[in-house]
Amino acid sequence: MNMFDSINPRDFQEHLYLYCLTDKDMQYRRFGKTNWQVSDIGYGMWGLAGWTGSDEAEIERSLDKAVDMGCNFYDTAWAYAAGKSEQILGRLVKRNPAKRLYAATKIPPMNFKWPASSAYSLTECYPLSHIVEYTEKSLKNLNLEAIDLQQFHVWDDSWVDHDDWKLAIEKLKKEGKVLHFGISVNRWEPDNALLALQTGLIDAVQVIYNIFDQAPEDNLFPLCSLLDVGVIARVPFDEGTLTGTLTKETTFPKDDWRSTYFVPENLIPSVDHAEALRPLIPSGMTMADIALKFILANPEVHTIIPGMRKIHHVESNIFASDGAVLEKSLLAKLKKHRWDRVPTSWSQ
Ligand SMILES: NC(=O)c1ccc[n+]([C@@H]2O[C@H](COP(=O)([O-])OP(=O)(O)OC[C@H]3O[C@@H](n4cnc5c(N)ncnc54)[C@H](OP(=O)(O)O)[C@@H]3O)[C@@H](O)[C@H]2O)c1
Repeated sequence: MNMFDSINPRDFQEHLYLYCLTDKDMQYRRFGKTNWQVSDIGYGMWGLAGWTGSDEAEIERSLDKAVDMGCNFYDTAWAYAAGKSEQILGRLVKRNPAKRLYAATKIPPMNFKWPASSAYSLTECYPLSHIVEYTEKSLKNLNLEAIDLQQFHVWDDSWVDHDDWKLAIEKLKKEGKVLHFGISVNRWEPDNALLALQTGLIDAVQVIYNIFDQAPEDNLFPLCSLLDVGVIARVPFDEGTLTGTLTKETTFPKDDWRSTYFVPENLIPSVDHAEALRPLIPSGMTMADIALKFILANPEVHTIIPGMRKIHHVESNIFASDGAVLEKSLLAKLKKHRWDRVPTSWSQ
């Protein structure tokens, strides 16, 4: 009996391809001025410690599979279950001493309010002592000597002239505790970090960018290119809508944050927008495939961090990094599905 005996012949070709996909197939991009070569498909680690329906054993297997397939960029945050996701990443890095895995995490705002707003002061969110304290906590959770990329989990450009965040960056870099700093830009506010980038202190941005959310192309990406800032595209599936698996009847358990995000006024139009894409999906591909390939087509993005807990999602998402590009005519059609939204009470 060999590994293919149990596979339906219809699926044989796909399994054979996945079996053959090794780290030589993953594509890598230079991550701005850090000069790191990061896999164009990275790994988002929010859901695996924070969303309901996670299976711990499968999560560990999914992460190991991602490493085997050449994924080297992992995004977590202290706020993902108060350090639990960071601890999972720390264990992954220790299990793979021979591989250079890049660990990115985030400092929660001191007032624990998402998203940032100009109504909150920098002193309420990121005083120097808080930035240092949470970097120490993250170092402990990750069990690392230094954090590769430490990000501000929220940001408001009205804070740019305050000295605390600049002094914290200087101190933590000088002490060797953080190699690079980044900003995770608020949902649907891609321009709300442009001033911070212009200080030259920020090496990377993490921003929502997908078939719907194309606004980062207007101002943020050109500035990142100019300043050689690394770009992480987060929420590539619009929190699940762009996988094509949500329906207008989908519900989430009360303790899952998606129950507060996919409220009817969001879920219903989101499903409508996703369904409008269905006729464009080429045969043999899924909506998730085209969602990733759409982002990969943009050279201004260096890595995408899909949230993944299931091993078959890891396999199919990394499979998207095969270097094959979407046809220009399809890309042009997808571009027309841009959907500009503004922050609301439920958008977080
Ligand atoms: N403020 C911030 O800084 C911030 C906010 C949001 C997200 N993030 C980061 O961005 C990452 C990605 O965002 P996200 O996880 O919120 O949303 P996402 O990547 O847009 O969507 C994740 C969802 O898509 C599903 N999925 C993944 N691959 C799939 C596939 N091939 N087919 C069908 N379904 C698939 C996942 O299922 P399974 O989980 O079951 O595999 C999960 O339910 C996070 O994990 C986090 O690292 C940062």
